[in-house]
Amino acid sequence: MTILGIESSCDETAASLLEIRKGTITIRSNNDASQATIHARYGGVVPEVAARNHLLSILPVAQKALGTSRPDVIAVTAGPGLVTSLGVGVQTARTLSFLWDIPLVAVNHLEGHLYSNWLPPVGGISNFKFQISNIEFPALVLIVSGGHTELILMRDHGSYKKIGQTLDDAAGEAFDKVAKMLGLGYPGGPAISRLAENGDPKRFAVPRALINDRKRQYDFSFSGVKTSVFYCVRDLKAAKKYTKRLLPDLCASFQQAVVDVLVWKTAAAAKEYKVKSVMLGGGVAANSLLRSQMIAVLTRDVPRAAVHIPQLKFCTDNAAMIAMAGYFHVKKSEYTPWHALDVRGGWEL
Ligand code: KG4
Ligand code: ZN
Repeated sequence: MTILGIESSCDETAASLLEIRKGTITIRSNNDASQATIHARYGGVVPEVAARNHLLSILPVAQKALGTSRPDVIAVTAGPGLVTSLGVGVQTARTLSFLWDIPLVAVNHLEGHLYSNWLPPVGGISNFKFQISNIEFPALVLIVSGGHTELILMRDHGSYKKIGQTLDDAAGEAFDKVAKMLGLGYPGGPAISRLAENGDPKRFAVPRALINDRKRQYDFSFSGVKTSVFYCVRDLKAAKKYTKRLLPDLCASFQQAVVDVLVWKTAAAAKEYKVKSVMLGGGVAANSLLRSQMIAVLTRDVPRAAVHIPQLKFCTDNAAMIAMAGYFHVKKSEYTPWHALDVRGGWEL
């Protein structure tokens, strides 16, 4: 079976062709047109600009992914995300489905991030073959992206229970806002993590929010972390002690606070729910400190849970993960006819 995945929920126009035969995945193509440099000018994603650029990119990106082939199924992100951006991918998928009479699958973007764990954890793209992962349930998934921070308990394919979420900013959003505050541009995550490599994570005191809150045991809050960096900078400036040389220490202290909370809460939930697997997904899962600390702490404290982390290119938005999630819907014949497929901007998993 070949599945064309289409993703356009934010600022990444992406299409990917996945071939799955007898449990073996071959990623035939994985294309994307990133708008990061366009939005960097504004310090964040501008919805109107994003939708117009999706319109310009979607057909060339899809055509490059398909080559001369015609897929058996089309899987498209229908939500959550920016409505006008989602509309471009959804309308393209509807049109191809109508013209070619190909079944259509609606995929939740968060489900896509979660299913990036079933994609090859290593290896290149072009015709790289990989036996589909046998991830054991129950599994715990930490989704950390620019728009979401959620802990999800997964008892089987398609069975999701949200056990925690952010009460304010998403983890990626906090990275982006702190980066903007420090003049590091957009997106902020990669810039902060690069600078943090040479910084002292203990130099500045940044709070670990909700860490001992029994009622909010698996919920997160990152706006206080962001504010504490703001006050640090303000006070340093007032005392005329703020220089660019402090950036690595500021970034390292902020990053360590965010990672500590994400890892502590994930480990605690993994223990309580006695899961067999722990997975990461979303753009912040590309963070090297989060990846290494998650593996170290879980191996030590929850040794019976296997830790799965997608390879870097499948952490940030991509279409291979949408095709992968689509595959598990196809197995259950969960199709949506083209005329019934609509954008669902606030779609909860
Ligand atoms: O999953 P994603 O590509 O898009 C959404 O669905 O939101 O995530 C984008 C987010 C951005 O906030 C970006 O700053 C963050 O992921 N990010 C990182 C890193 N790479 C991307 N955050 C921390 N460290 C990174 N290395
Ligand atoms: Zn995403």
